[in-house]
Amino acid sequence: MAQKSRTKERSASRYRIAVIGGDGTGPEVTGEALKVLQAVAALEQFEVELTAFDYGGERYLKTGKVISDDEVEALRKFDALLLGAVGHPDVAPGILEKGLLLKLRFQLDQYINLRPVKLYPGVETPLAGRGPEDIDFVIVRENTEGLYTGMGGFAHKGTPHEVATQIMCNTRMGVERCLRFAFEYCRKRKDKKQLTLVAKTNVLTYASDLWWRVFNEIGEKDYPDVKRDYNHVDACCMWMVKNPEFYDTIVTDNMFGDIITDLAAMIQGGLGVAAGGNINPHGVSMFEPIGGSAPKYTGKNVINPIAAIGAMRMMLEFLGEEKAAARVEKAITTVTGTKMKSMSAGQMGYSTTEVGDLVCAAL
Ligand code: IPM
Ligand code: MN
Repeated sequence: MAQKSRTKERSASRYRIAVIGGDGTGPEVTGEALKVLQAVAALEQFEVELTAFDYGGERYLKTGKVISDDEVEALRKFDALLLGAVGHPDVAPGILEKGLLLKLRFQLDQYINLRPVKLYPGVETPLAGRGPEDIDFVIVRENTEGLYTGMGGFAHKGTPHEVATQIMCNTRMGVERCLRFAFEYCRKRKDKKQLTLVAKTNVLTYASDLWWRVFNEIGEKDYPDVKRDYNHVDACCMWMVKNPEFYDTIVTDNMFGDIITDLAAMIQGGLGVAAGGNINPHGVSMFEPIGGSAPKYTGKNVINPIAAIGAMRMMLEFLGEEKAAARVEKAITTVTGTKMKSMSAGQMGYSTTEVGDLVCAAL
């Protein structure tokens, strides 16, 4: 990855990590991820310098501020960001999501949302008769355009003639850079080398058409070794459940990606295990467990930290610490496969901190 060389040149083997524990159970699971990070850093002999930030619901309720432009700018000097969760029961929906998470993604130009979909051994999937050998693919979601730009508006609001528009904005540049990332990631991933574009060319005859044309144009010219495949998004939802083993790498726009990554999270065992990265290959990336802040479990030491540890593993991969990342991956596999009873909060057979300890021990 481009980020690897950037980081390596700049700060040898010492990484500056900004940690935003966030709301609810966010700080608890992040704590376990950091515990594993410290342990693997000692084993693989690199250093981490952690700086904590209190952005999230509590701070917003106290100060009325989510995160300012300057505060976001200050995060650029870090090698990576680790995020716990955003979402607070006393804060109206949208304020933290847009004001913190989406603001970070947009302002730091984290134009890829990368979601590995891997069923770890010992983890239950709702797909009958399926095991780890069937579920191992990755979704590359465009993360800064589509329906998420906030373009659109109301006219005649509150009247019977009200109009509400939400514009799906796709730029050639945005589509192309996302597709190129997906082709390159796919190329390095598995022998299968198959990239599935998920769109809706039968209805979105402008937006999906742009994706389709760029996909084939650059695919033919620059990635002839990668097999190109196409699914309409609705069909993809069926195939993902029926034949998950078919997929290698999926690339899609922001909104479709938001939806299919949640479907994918369920087939890999749910929010206790699903992790993601908001990637700017030339800048600072942010890694997060994709589950929410789970307020009802806050402070109970029962939430599953595997997703947060998985997010930290992705961070190591993007920092170029591939051996450490592989070590964490193997430790997660050992713990899910031989120790944990369930991935659900309160039913793991261990507490949050015990699961973190088990992963450290398995390193
Ligand atoms: C996700 C989340 C966010 C999104 C929300 C919290 C804004 O659902 O990371 O998928 O829609 O992108
Ligand atoms: Mn989502």
